[in-house]
Amino acid sequence: MGIDQRRWRWWNAVVFIGMVGVTGSNSQEKQKQVVSRIAFGSCSNQSAPQPIWDAVVDFHPQVFIWLGDNIYGDFKRPFKIFGQERTVGPWKNVPRFVPSSEQEMKTRYEKAKSNPGYARLQQNAEVIGTWDDHDYGLNDAGKEFHGKITNQKLLLDFLDEPQDSPRRKQAGVYASYMYGPVGRDIKIVLLDTRYHRDPVGSDGTILGNSQWLWLEKELKGPPTALTIIGSSIQVISNLSATIRPLFAMESWARFPKERDRLFKLIADSKRAGVFFISGDAHFGEITRYDCALDYPLYDLTSSGVTQSVEEVVPHFLRSFVRFVAWLTPSTMRVKDQNCRYKSCIYGQTNFGTIEIDWDSHPVTLKFKVRDKDSIMVTGVDVSLTELQPSNSEVLDRAKTEHNNSKHCTLEVSLPWIVRHRLAILFFSALFVLLVVFVVLVYTCFRFCRLESCKRKHD
Ligand SMILES: *[C@@H]1O[C@H](CO)[C@@H](O)[C@H](O)[C@H]1NC(C)=O
Ligand SMILES: *[C@@H]1O[C@H](CO)[C@@H](O)[C@H](O)[C@H]1NC(C)=O
Ligand SMILES: *[C@@H]1O[C@H](CO)[C@@H](O)[C@H](O)[C@H]1NC(C)=O
Repeated sequence: MGIDQRRWRWWNAVVFIGMVGVTGSNSQEKQKQVVSRIAFGSCSNQSAPQPIWDAVVDFHPQVFIWLGDNIYGDFKRPFKIFGQERTVGPWKNVPRFVPSSEQEMKTRYEKAKSNPGYARLQQNAEVIGTWDDHDYGLNDAGKEFHGKITNQKLLLDFLDEPQDSPRRKQAGVYASYMYGPVGRDIKIVLLDTRYHRDPVGSDGTILGNSQWLWLEKELKGPPTALTIIGSSIQVISNLSATIRPLFAMESWARFPKERDRLFKLIADSKRAGVFFISGDAHFGEITRYDCALDYPLYDLTSSGVTQSVEEVVPHFLRSFVRFVAWLTPSTMRVKDQNCRYKSCIYGQTNFGTIEIDWDSHPVTLKFKVRDKDSIMVTGVDVSLTELQPSNSEVLDRAKTEHNNSKHCTLEVSLPWIVRHRLAILFFSALFVLLVVFVVLVYTCFRFCRLESCKRKHD
């Protein structure tokens, strides 16, 4: 028995050392491998069908990035205008969302992880990610949310973060990753826009002190050919400026000071090849801001895997949603003829892709938002030489363009009538309807009185 046991231990040791060797060299080799295909997505309801994974898997991404709302963890009350549990309007007396229990969150994560399409993606790509409000645990929540410590653990379990990872010990889920050999290296920085965030409207902080210090180190550290900054909420677009007071959206633009700080940090770091990816919006679009750095700053937004603005309206109203999207002014959106719809917004389920052709001269990047069949709905090709700081030639050309280019005007600087045309149209339509209604009622009333008079005379 003694000998058997010793032999058993010896074999175990050999197998264990072998495994460590293999996984160790594997992960090192993986990091040195050139990465040229990256996909990303957000806003995925674990209980809904998720046919889009087939297209994501067929794209053969080497890395897939979750940008938040990876599950819907909070509990949504039924929409109610009247009654005990009013959830809308100025008279609302209960919140529309409430946090789930830890057990319920766990169950929802398990459901998301075991979706067959997603499971196939996990086998074929490295999956990394951050969170947004619904997987953080509560709609539109920030630093005040009490469930954040428990839910951080659950998100990191979902992402298979090693038990001894420093990411499990810090306050917030921000992280950075390095891929590729020198010269073709990519840094991916994932922000946490929830854990430390002050209330919307405070113009306070999104990242909080500790995350700012970390981000500064990340960006001022050794240069890389590309740096992708993943933010759950949009960085460049300020849709709220043009759709208020009808709707409002969370975005970096709602925290103007914090956004300027981010742009200044990137500029000060003199880092080349920086761009953003984002989610949250329930539509896909590509935006670009030319006046933050001395090179154009892109933001590729893809949202969502299951959630989308068109899905929540009946079929016959979808053309109307597209019309409204087209009517909504935007100074940052990248538009061209290759978009699926005129607005270059895509309001059905989608995912984002980044393809890098390292062998072309200069290196080119293809940014795309794709539909559930992997067909491009909006996209742009960018040469890496365009994304270099203090490149005087590009700078001069950009400056000349700036005087004509829309990508330099903030949405809030648009002429009043342009900026608010959606609201103007909405309230005008409402007014017309009201007038028609009043005229109709009045006519009916007159008609009825006439009739009754006639009857009396008869
Ligand atoms: C998720 O999908 C389920 C099943 O279709 C649905 O009942 C639920 O309301 C959805 N949740 C959200 C947040 O859309
Ligand atoms: C974005 O729009 C909001 C709402 O109109 C405004 O308060 C904010 O200052 C804008 N942000 C930027 C960066 O223009
Ligand atoms: C852009 O316009 C400003 C003022 O409108 C002018 O001073 C500047 O020279 C112009 N820049 C270029 C590059 O044409």
